[in-house]
Amino acid sequence: MALVWQQPLPRIYTELSDPELRLRIEGAREALAGKLAILGHHYQQDDIIDFADFTGDSFELSRKAAEQKGIEYVVFGGVHFMAESADILTDEGVRVILPDMGAGCSMADMASLDQTLEAWAQLEEACPDQTIVPITYMNSSAAIKAFVGEHGGAVCTSSNCRNVLEWALKGGAVEGHTPGRKVKVLFFPDQHLGRNTAFAMGYPLDKMVVWDPTQDLGGNSERNLIDADFVLWKGHCSVHALFRPEHVDQVRRDHPNMKVLVHPECKFDVVQKADMAGSTAYIVKQVEAAPPGSEWAIGTEVHLVNRLKQQHPEQKIVVLSDCQCLCTTMFRIDLPHLCWVLENLVEGNVVNEIRVDSHTRRWATVALDRMLAIPGTGNPIGKKQPVGTTVD
Ligand code: 13P
Ligand code: SF4
Repeated sequence: MALVWQQPLPRIYTELSDPELRLRIEGAREALAGKLAILGHHYQQDDIIDFADFTGDSFELSRKAAEQKGIEYVVFGGVHFMAESADILTDEGVRVILPDMGAGCSMADMASLDQTLEAWAQLEEACPDQTIVPITYMNSSAAIKAFVGEHGGAVCTSSNCRNVLEWALKGGAVEGHTPGRKVKVLFFPDQHLGRNTAFAMGYPLDKMVVWDPTQDLGGNSERNLIDADFVLWKGHCSVHALFRPEHVDQVRRDHPNMKVLVHPECKFDVVQKADMAGSTAYIVKQVEAAPPGSEWAIGTEVHLVNRLKQQHPEQKIVVLSDCQCLCTTMFRIDLPHLCWVLENLVEGNVVNEIRVDSHTRRWATVALDRMLAIPGTGNPIGKKQPVGTTVD
């Protein structure tokens, strides 16, 4: 994330009680009716979800952002890369606001544009006879999305990664690609989502290499790079890294009827041991569709798991591990920050606006639009499947 700074909140906002903040937020929303949409990612705390006009995973929210017409402001309950994507996808006149500028994503910060340019130059030199298609997970900066757009690739999310990879393996939108030429995917920045999805599509692990941006050739031999189908950036989510295979083993021992449902940002061994893997929207759908008495151990951020637990008392729902699997940056968006940005909007002051510069916006739009045009979103990544199989 570019260097951003969150100014200290005026004292009043930190001194108000929650009921007072709620009342003032409600008042500000009424004053802004018709001009404002509040989006809330599934990992947001309940206090924020209560005020969200739309909730969803990062894919659904990007679609919602793109649909907003005739309003003036989108307030994003989420993290910086999501607000950047919303700015890119909304009409020019819509101003996107992130209530706390400190709400970043450590995974997105693991791939910088300079490192990407260096990796690209080295890969092109090592594999001159291949088509390299860059794909970036939504959890990346707008600069990386723009790089990908400019080089014939697309964005993906955890709901549509498989579909986007299938598209990429046909050459994506790389100029000059000819059928029959070997295609290699360079996948940013979450090695786990890339590996889990490629494996589910039928690619063996020895066809994947990890690119460590701190090392020459990403720490690989030229031969390994040439042979690989997937070059996975060495990035990860520090929240999902907390789930370990032993946690699944423990659930199997202690709760034989419990299904293990995890997010594909979890490590490979965890996903392999789990029963199902999919985006936050997929996780929500599984629980909603399950009969009373169902038992789930869920491997994702704790706010979503606790909300599902509250909404479905007829089911038994636990977090896959007892670690504090909390996304601390998502958690920065709270009632005081929401109240502060909304009351400023009522006064005509736009604080914490997220603006993507025009060059970056142009190419990142291309990468995001390519994603939105690929059919078959909302699919789980599945387990190992023959190449080309789509899991419904
Ligand atoms: P999804 O919203 O795609 O499920 O991703 C979860 C996440 O980590 C967002 O940062
Ligand atoms: Fe980033 Fe992980 Fe938090 Fe998602 S859960 S915003 S990937 S740190």
